[in-house]
Amino acid sequence: MKILAIETSCDETAIAFVEATGGLKAPQFTILGNLVTSQIALHRPFGGVVPNIAKREHLKNLPILFEEIQKIIGRKKPDILAVTVGPGLEPALWTGVGFAKEVRKKYFPKAEFLGVNHMEGHLYSFLLAKASKGKKNKSPSFKTPRVNSFFPAIAVVVSGGHTILLKVDSLEKWKRLGETRDDAVGEAFDKVARMLELPYPGGPEIEKHAKLGNAAAIPFPRPLMHSSDYDFSFSGLKTSVLYYMRDHKDANKDDVAASFQAAAVETLAKKAERAVRQFGAQSILLSGGVAANTALREALTLKAKETGAAFFAPSFEYNTDNAAMIAVAAYMSHLRKKNRRIIAQANISL
Ligand code: KG4
Ligand code: ZN
Repeated sequence: MKILAIETSCDETAIAFVEATGGLKAPQFTILGNLVTSQIALHRPFGGVVPNIAKREHLKNLPILFEEIQKIIGRKKPDILAVTVGPGLEPALWTGVGFAKEVRKKYFPKAEFLGVNHMEGHLYSFLLAKASKGKKNKSPSFKTPRVNSFFPAIAVVVSGGHTILLKVDSLEKWKRLGETRDDAVGEAFDKVARMLELPYPGGPEIEKHAKLGNAAAIPFPRPLMHSSDYDFSFSGLKTSVLYYMRDHKDANKDDVAASFQAAAVETLAKKAERAVRQFGAQSILLSGGVAANTALREALTLKAKETGAAFFAPSFEYNTDNAAMIAVAAYMSHLRKKNRRIIAQANISL
């Protein structure tokens, strides 16, 4: 099936065209086009995403990206037209939904029209791990061998707005084990970066500085790391960094970044490990923007090794927001016969 997907939940305008085959048993994806326009530079002076600027930029960028994707689509017609309906910034979501409706009316009235949960996109993005380049074309192709051998899996979904630990029984069934009680881990990276006067988004900046620093320099707390549930809390850790910076005017930024990152990563990795052991998981699935973090990938790879589980994370470009993952989730929705209403919903859960 050919899927055209549109994503505008936050500060990335994205459109992708993906070919999906294999069904729930052996899903396979070829990414024919994956276009992302980032608005980061525009939001940077404000230290975070400004919803109305995001909306304005989505309105401007969508027709440009659509024109570009049309060149890739050529005469092909998508079987599915998918659009992110939430969670996210409501004004941003509405621009994507409105644009998708126009595209459907004008170009693809026969396509199945699916609303997609952004977090399902992240969750399923592990299916975009390890690409092999097709011989005839340069489109990356993703084949998932023996998908049933992955399950049960423990999924760690970590983004700017969410931190969720799930037990995934199949491509159709999962249960949320825990989530953050306050800040999302990506949000904590962004806020700590601001304290260190590093630009937005903070995750990649913290990672860069952390590589130069000593992770054992400052013993920041690991809130809830030993609690018996699977919840997380990053607000206390963030506040500890704030107090540390207040009390140490000459603090070494690299050491602070490294010590903060180590605390955040260890908390996530410990809980994931405990869940793997408790549920006899066969794999750990990592996704969401923070999955781009090498220290986190390495820590979870190690936990997987220690527990005899496999480790899957999307190829680099599918960690942060993109529309290819929305196409993957749309294919799953189609197979699972799940349809969401095509209205923007800022707060839907996974
Ligand atoms: O999934 P995403 O692109 O958007 C949301 O759905 O929120 O995630 C963005 C988040 C931001 O908080 C950003 O700082 C974080 O992912 N991030 C990282 C890294 N790259 C992006 N956090 C830590 N290390 C990174 N390398
Ligand atoms: Zn996201």
